[in-house]
Amino acid sequence: MAPAEPHAIPFRAKGDIPTFAEEREGWKGYIEWEKYPEKKKQVEEIMKRYDFPDPPEFQLVPLPDTNPILTGERWKQYHYATGLGHLVDTSWKYVLKEKSADMIHVLQFPYNGEPPRDRLVSTEITPNPDFFVRNHGGIPEIDPAAYTLDISGLVNNPKRLTLADLQNEELFPRQTNVVSLQCSGTRRIEQIHEYPGDGDELINAPWGEGAIGTARWTGVSLKKVIKYCGGLKDGAMHLEFFGADTYFKKGKVYNYVVSVPWRKVKVNEVLLAWEMNGEPLPKIHGFPLRAVCFGYIGARSVKWLYEIRAITDPTEAPVQRKEYLYYTPQVGKQNAKYSNGFSIQDMPVSSAIMSPLNMQHVIHDGKIELKGWAYSGGGHWPIRVEVSGDGGSIWYEVPWENLSTKYYYAWRLWHMELPVDAEGWLEICVRCWDNALNTQPTFVRSAWNWDLHVTSSAHRLKIYSINRSRPATAARLKLLEEKGIDIVPITKPLEFDLETDEEYEAAMNQQRGREPEE
Ligand code: MTE
Repeated sequence: MAPAEPHAIPFRAKGDIPTFAEEREGWKGYIEWEKYPEKKKQVEEIMKRYDFPDPPEFQLVPLPDTNPILTGERWKQYHYATGLGHLVDTSWKYVLKEKSADMIHVLQFPYNGEPPRDRLVSTEITPNPDFFVRNHGGIPEIDPAAYTLDISGLVNNPKRLTLADLQNEELFPRQTNVVSLQCSGTRRIEQIHEYPGDGDELINAPWGEGAIGTARWTGVSLKKVIKYCGGLKDGAMHLEFFGADTYFKKGKVYNYVVSVPWRKVKVNEVLLAWEMNGEPLPKIHGFPLRAVCFGYIGARSVKWLYEIRAITDPTEAPVQRKEYLYYTPQVGKQNAKYSNGFSIQDMPVSSAIMSPLNMQHVIHDGKIELKGWAYSGGGHWPIRVEVSGDGGSIWYEVPWENLSTKYYYAWRLWHMELPVDAEGWLEICVRCWDNALNTQPTFVRSAWNWDLHVTSSAHRLKIYSINRSRPATAARLKLLEEKGIDIVPITKPLEFDLETDEEYEAAMNQQRGREPEE
């Protein structure tokens, strides 16, 4: 095997490339796997023929400085080998059509992208083109007129519902909620930089702080739909969600399937949404219908939802059972099993500084303007945000009036002028407290985990402080301006002498020379 990136490896077919039929008319890119074990077996056999490229090593060495950062050669080849190569192109077509041109493409295919940092915190509600995307496969294209949702399994009256049924307010009351979605990979890059983990997670996406967004979602509460189907029966306690996209895991193929417990649904915290910020869902975000699970890890909010099945236990599907697990720090390649990590559901309290940027220089007059987000899942909300200019010893409270609207299920944006006298490299950080008094561990190490999920430690970044309220700094900045020299990059050497010989002599006289007197 060869490393896949940055140089793409040409795909060479081994034997015939199969054609798997589309499952339904009006649905493109939806191959049903879960109902056809023999089709799954066929794919397993095909996958065995190939020596797919290894996941690239970008934890022990730096990530490419490119956009897309990773291209997903391995995933692309899975699709080429199984006759699904067209999904690679469809996916990119919708990225170009529906997302902002300056998205940071952390993984080209399956598409994963986040918006530029400062823009993400410029509006309380994230515009659809800027909303992060986390896909595990291609994007199905579904004609809304041909769309149906099956409610099956342990319900008293299983039903097939059209979009028109779901939107019929005589059948179902409509519900709108402001909800943040956060991928559990958000801020993964901080863990990678300090303590690398499972390479399988890196290639899923080396996320920064932008795998979070907030939208106003409209749809119906799943609870009402279950009630419409006569309620649950025979000990059903969980609801399994089926997404129409194709998902590969360890040489096998599936649809994207997860489950949520009925207790979550019962409190109207699971919405079946067709609208995002007053518009039909973009294709890339699950058109025509997706689940939105408030306060949970984004993975449960299934896009391109085509079936909901009532079951007794959490689903056995691999996204639920084998992914999104949280291990203790002593679990890793040497001993990790699916059963010794816990399944991530409620998102913990977290926050990030989105401006300034890590490693940036900041010229200021004794105060640095910071901006960011703060969020807590599980029905909690940020109640206080604190920032520190010295790596976490002294914390300043962000004034409450600098925090955006309080919602049960959404982030709060914040901004703050941090008093900073010091110059040179500083480590600034942020932490949030939620209404249940939860707060964040101070260091990455305290919450590091092998699968690099849920980076919940205080977000910290290094900035180079240049304090213009100090006379010597003000004079140097003025001189640079007169000479037409930029202070950045700060690492570029100055080409003129730092002082004249006369100035040096005068200073030395004042300091009584370099040498000791006796
Ligand atoms: N649903 C399907 N069908 N396929 C997916 O790959 N990704 C999940 C979830 N729903 C996914 C899915 C994950 S991990 C996240 S974080 C959210 O969708 C992201 O939602 P977004 O892409 O609309 O921002």
